[in-house]
Amino acid sequence: MAPAPFVAGVPLSTSVFKADIFKGKVLFCTGGGSGICRGMTEAMMKHGADAVILGRQINRLTKAAEELTKSTGRTCIPAQVDVREPKTLAAAVAKTIEQFGRIDYVICGAAGNFLSPISNLSENGFRTVIEIDTLGTYNTIKATLPHLRKSKGSYVHVSATLHYRATPYQVHVSAAKAAVDALSSVLAIEEGPHGVRSNVLAPGPVANTEGADRLSNKSNYLEMKQTLPLGRVGAIEDCANAGVFLFSDAAAFITGQTIVVDGGNEHLRTSY
Ligand code: HXC
Repeated sequence: MAPAPFVAGVPLSTSVFKADIFKGKVLFCTGGGSGICRGMTEAMMKHGADAVILGRQINRLTKAAEELTKSTGRTCIPAQVDVREPKTLAAAVAKTIEQFGRIDYVICGAAGNFLSPISNLSENGFRTVIEIDTLGTYNTIKATLPHLRKSKGSYVHVSATLHYRATPYQVHVSAAKAAVDALSSVLAIEEGPHGVRSNVLAPGPVANTEGADRLSNKSNYLEMKQTLPLGRVGAIEDCANAGVFLFSDAAAFITGQTIVVDGGNEHLRTSY
């Protein structure tokens, strides 16, 4: 049976790309237990990849891995890590190689977030988000890079758009994501000669995610849809589609770039 081409008005990658473009390939996804990263993993698996999803909450990961295996017909396994701890990532990489023999694609998606004005933000609160988002991305790159050199693989870092302009209560995340963008660019230029690509996926307002839920408490984050050029907030599937493209051979000459998935919010919004 042909897969449904749309979910709630959003086109799916399976209606655009062939079903087997990632067959025989392996995805390693931090933060894959929920939200955007889980959606990206599911899309990659629907195109043939097997996957390892990583995070701190093993119960949530185990349930998600079972569901992803069932919904895609591929194999997904969970691995418990704290991306702030390189030893846990090394163990997860070893588990991945033991199970699948290779790593082709990495999504650096593990992130932390809460709303806080800088006047109330403790040093530990600031450091915690920098350590999860920025140091966690660095640690994930370091743990996986030898395998990506072997497979001539590709990274996608899940960043944000909130640091393009000043976003109140988000100084910690803004600083952390700006650093993630920089990490990706340097990775791209240094590893390009080894056949490794690195790009950033920057979601704008995306419904049904923990980030949006947290930001919605103090802003009209998801109510802004009337002002978005494309007239709706994003769906997890929009990000998943962009991820499939960035990992696919259709993006073989694209590295060091940021794909903003925000319905035109950042660059097209005008005031008049
Ligand atoms: C002020 C806070 C706080 C809050 C935590 N802290 N929550 N400060 N306001 N609401 C402070 C604590 O007081 C503590 O500092 C320090 O942060 C560390 O808190 P812990 O709870 O000990 O840390 P930890 O258990 O590691 O939890 C990390 C976390 C947590 C970031 C605080 O919320 C988390 O892990 N969240 C992960 C899930 C998540 O947020 N996902 C969505 C990401 S979305 P003190 O000084 O008291 O010791 C995203 C995209 C952004 O990133 C773009 C939006 C669309």
